[in-house]
Amino acid sequence: MKITEFKRRRSQLMKMMGKNTIAILPSSSELIRNRDAHFPFRQDSDFLYLTGFNEPDAVMVLKPGRKHGEYILFCREKDPEKETWNGRRAGQEGAIDIHGADDSFPIDDIDDILPGMLEGTDSIFNIMGRYSEFDKRLIGWVSHIREHSRSGKHVPSEFVALEYLLHDMRLFKSREELRMMRKAAAINVRAHLRAMKLCAPGKYEYQIHAEFDHEYRGYNADHAYPAIVGGGANGCILHYTDNNDELKDGELLLIDAGCEVEGYASDVTRTFPVNGKYSSAQRDLYDIVLAAHQAAVKKVKPGNHWNDPHDAAVRVITRGLIELKLLKGTVARLLKEQAYRKFYMHRTGHWLGLDVHDVGDYRVGDQWRLLEPGMVLTIEPGIYIPAHTRGVHRKWWNIGIRIEDDVLVTRQGCEILTDALPRKVAEIEALMAG
Ligand code: GLY
Ligand code: MN
Ligand code: MN
Repeated sequence: MKITEFKRRRSQLMKMMGKNTIAILPSSSELIRNRDAHFPFRQDSDFLYLTGFNEPDAVMVLKPGRKHGEYILFCREKDPEKETWNGRRAGQEGAIDIHGADDSFPIDDIDDILPGMLEGTDSIFNIMGRYSEFDKRLIGWVSHIREHSRSGKHVPSEFVALEYLLHDMRLFKSREELRMMRKAAAINVRAHLRAMKLCAPGKYEYQIHAEFDHEYRGYNADHAYPAIVGGGANGCILHYTDNNDELKDGELLLIDAGCEVEGYASDVTRTFPVNGKYSSAQRDLYDIVLAAHQAAVKKVKPGNHWNDPHDAAVRVITRGLIELKLLKGTVARLLKEQAYRKFYMHRTGHWLGLDVHDVGDYRVGDQWRLLEPGMVLTIEPGIYIPAHTRGVHRKWWNIGIRIEDDVLVTRQGCEILTDALPRKVAEIEALMAG
């Protein structure tokens, strides 16, 4: 992503922060996996959004109106020996020349430099509670100024939650962000297609999983969350990630997998028959979920509120389950009792962006948030019937179905970013036969 994009975001944020303010945001830290090995580094999404800087041990400071530059980046110094072992570092020069910081200091000097930057500000914008060690240091720096305030130094008087401004910005995707999300969507669609084509009785869930690894890494993307590759009964476990069972003839395979590109996620689920042909019971339930998906997508348009797609989905699911005699009663009463929750226990979607479950409020006050162009959400209705579900005939057992797509709110309505991946029974069967 271009560095002008990050600059635009910082300027927009600083404009909203106003005068005599400062924003302070630390990066993620490296996490030890065992002994000398670390987990793959993933930058903090807020930090990435504002800096594009992908190193640990860094702190971003924004100080609107500061004479020597408004964007200050504390980061690791260059160190030829450490870089030989562990990889390149931007250093202070790189922070300025490559990453567009106005000013940069070694992270090890932060205790000496940052308190001076806090002086003279009224409000400190930060995210409390995410990194408690850093919170303690920040409070320490403010206390330090207060202790010396008799010498006439101005002490900041309040901490302000940075996320109110920042997360609302992140909710509305820019053209550049949508470019990344479309890329992630396209890679993900190809990966799901590979999985559908490879799937056959006797294969193992991890072999299907490996198709995603290959396709994602082949395009410099990576998993945005642990992939769910669940055959038969495993498809009824919402967060199943063992992915180590054999796929059996006659069962369904539920795959919920998504990749991220420069941090931007795709999140897609398809459910298809291991042997390429849906049984009549599987098809009956599948068509209800598909109809719920269609009804929910139809409700994604400006002016509708966040919960409209969910309301539409649960209505279709309730009606469908009554038709199949899996629920008994009137639609109105069953909806009121939320009887569908026996079979559909999660919500119909979430915001999508740098985080798979992205930031942004779902309510404003006591009202559901209105949908506006530029927001991206998932639509993911499902039905899950584990074996031995009480009062349910065994022909429905071990059927778990979810259909999930990534949807952008547009001025006219919406666009399904992952629409190229088949959803209809006939299309999926044709693809698997071919
Ligand atoms: N893959 C996580 C979700 O669907 O919400
Ligand atoms: Mn999702
Ligand atoms: Mn998902």
